[in-house]
This record gives sequence, structure tokens and C-alpha cells, in this order.
Amino acid sequence: MTDPTITLEIFRYHPEQDETPSFRRYEIPYREDWVVLDAINYIKDRIDGTLAYRWSCRMGVCGSCGMMINGTPRLSCAAFLREYYPNPVRVEPLANFPVERDLVIALDDFMHKLREVNPWLIRAQERPLSDGEYRQTPDEVAAYKQYSMCINCMLCYAACPVYALEPRFLGPAAIALAQRYNLDSRDQGRSQRQAVLSSEDGIWDCTLVGECTVACPEHVDPAGAIQRAKLASTINWYKRVLMPWGGR
Ligand code: SF4
Ligand code: FES
Repeated sequence: MTDPTITLEIFRYHPEQDETPSFRRYEIPYREDWVVLDAINYIKDRIDGTLAYRWSCRMGVCGSCGMMINGTPRLSCAAFLREYYPNPVRVEPLANFPVERDLVIALDDFMHKLREVNPWLIRAQERPLSDGEYRQTPDEVAAYKQYSMCINCMLCYAACPVYALEPRFLGPAAIALAQRYNLDSRDQGRSQRQAVLSSEDGIWDCTLVGECTVACPEHVDPAGAIQRAKLASTINWYKRVLMPWGGR
């Protein structure tokens, strides 16, 4: 009996030398305990060293190995070959991003958007170090913890139909990270984030399709974060209109 094999169809594109992208097929040994990333590493090590892709931790932590696997955004280190065997596995770069080479996408757009939402603690006035830590109760930590689990893997952007049509949309992860800091009891920077969140390309662009939450491997629920941001923004607006003397 021959050893089982599986075929990977991998997107290949070197912009400096290829006019158009193409798919290359690789037949490799099938191992039930391998994930797609193991298969790609096998190809890189044994068959074709020119293949370009990103990965680091192989355990769903670094967020760098996101790819379209049979049309779905997945972490390649968390997608087992046995989910697809005996059928071929088609591997493409994450949708909705420019391709730098093969499976490597350009992240500049997200990096710019991330910077725009000020994803760090903002204090109106810092306390002196001698006052000690900013302590939080378990409930205060729970208020933002889910949104702090984001690993910047970009699966939610690859799944988002709004981002596909309107690349200016701030997008799921950037908004979820803004919420992560807005909900932190130590933070006082909500008003600084509000201009970006409620801008033309901010939270109101979201049509609540929810595909971002389905794709998210860390259960961040970016769709929920966006709806909470919309609610907070609406309450804020009513307070400003109905209580202009100081309702905030
Ligand atoms: S919200 Fe989820 S899918 Fe989006 S970047 Fe963060 S971890 Fe990835
Ligand atoms: S290799 Fe780090 S998340 Fe997959």
C-alpha cells in the first residue's frame, strides 16, 4: 500500500517577474496530525524554497500565518489537513489586501488605521509613580478583556464584505481595539478616539454582517464591539444635544 498524499494548490505571485498570479500544485505526504502550515513548511523545505509566507509561533498566538484556505480566512497553524483530506487544499493570501509576494500581504493600511485609534491607555493626568499601580477589580478587567485578546491576524478584514468594497473603512480589529481601551477603567481617552470612530469611514460603515466575528480565531467578537461602539456613540450624541450644559 502506498503512503497517502494530499495536494496543495498554492497561490504564487512575484510582482517583479510575474505578469499575473498563478496556482502551483504540490503533492506531499499526508499526515493526520499536520496543519496546513506544516504542509507549507514541508513544501518550502523539501520542494520549493522560493515560496514566501509568514509565520512564527505555530500555536495561534503571533497572528502572522493567516491565509485563505479553501476560500475561508484561517490561521494556517490551526487548520488541520484532515479537515480537507482527501480533497486538495487551495491556499491563497488573505483577501482584501495587496499581495507583496505569494502568500505575503501588505499590512500598511491596517497599521495606519491602528495608529489612528490610539490603542494605548490615555490619561488626562498621570499619577506620580509613588502612588503605586492603577489597580482594577476583576469586573473592571472583565469589561474589556475579550477585546484585548486580538492578535492582529487580519482574518476579520479578509472576511469583511464592507472592507472589500470600501477599503477606507476603519475595520473590525481597529474598532475592537479602540473599544478595548474605551472600556478600560484606567483610560480617559474616549473623546480622542471618538472623532475617528464616528467619522465617515468609522463604525457607521459597518452593516452588521457579522462575518468578522465568525472568522475571529480568538473570539474577540469585533462585530459586537462595533455595535457597542455605535450604542455608546448614540448615547453620547443624545447627551450632547439634550444636555449641552455638560451631559457626557
Ligand atoms: S479581531 Fe480577531 S480576527 Fe480580527 S485581527 Fe483581532 S484576532 Fe484577528
Ligand atoms: S504561526 Fe503564529 S498564529 Fe499561526
